[in-house]
Amino acid sequence: MERLQKIIANSGYCSRRKAEELILSGKVEVNGVIINTLGSRASYSDTIVINGVTLKSESKEYILLYKPRGVVSSVSDEKGRKTVVDIVESKNRLYPVGRLDYDTSGLLILTNDGELTNLLIHPSHEVEKVYIVKVDEIVNPSLVKSLEKGVIIGGKKTGRARVKIKKIDKKKKSSLIELTIYEGRNHQVKKMFEAIGYKVSKLKRERFAFLTLDGLSSGEYRHLNIKEVKKLYAIAKK
Ligand code: URA
Repeated sequence: MERLQKIIANSGYCSRRKAEELILSGKVEVNGVIINTLGSRASYSDTIVINGVTLKSESKEYILLYKPRGVVSSVSDEKGRKTVVDIVESKNRLYPVGRLDYDTSGLLILTNDGELTNLLIHPSHEVEKVYIVKVDEIVNPSLVKSLEKGVIIGGKKTGRARVKIKKIDKKKKSSLIELTIYEGRNHQVKKMFEAIGYKVSKLKRERFAFLTLDGLSSGEYRHLNIKEVKKLYAIAKK
């Protein structure tokens, strides 16, 4: 179940705000009943009629993007910066599943499937995310390993995590660490490193669930196939 205005917006019919206006003006019917207050929920299988026309959902599209650094993970940007949606050619209204920071690169899924998006970003579904972290100093391996026990960020302890030290370059005074997490809090990786006294200088997401960046260069993308989409649903619904 999902808010009615969200279902309408996700179908590609109009924006969420416009959908709210339509609902409030009594133009929306769900299974034959006019709904004219906000806050009602419906399901994607309900029959939704707007101004007498039955809502048909857009065909669903799923894209795996290798997001470059210097691109915003949203549909539009008030500062006029390039967004992930600008990179991808589509006639659908796609949006990112979660976010990567402006200066983070790596794997990002874009879709117009609101149901899958909500399942994947819901904290209880614990989708595995693997990051490669660069720190411009020689890190203390046991201190970095302590991230596995959890650190407090934003007043709350972080959940399950796995740490692998990939490389410590004594000459260049830099370290590469692989960090696997199952949550997706705001700036989580940077904050986890900050909590143990390190500043992340570069961050890349290498994996999201079973999906990797194999075969793609920065700025490139590909469509997910039906098997991959089904597998994502299966993982998210577990
Ligand atoms: N953690 C961060 O700090 N930034 C990202 O972009 C993703 C995870």
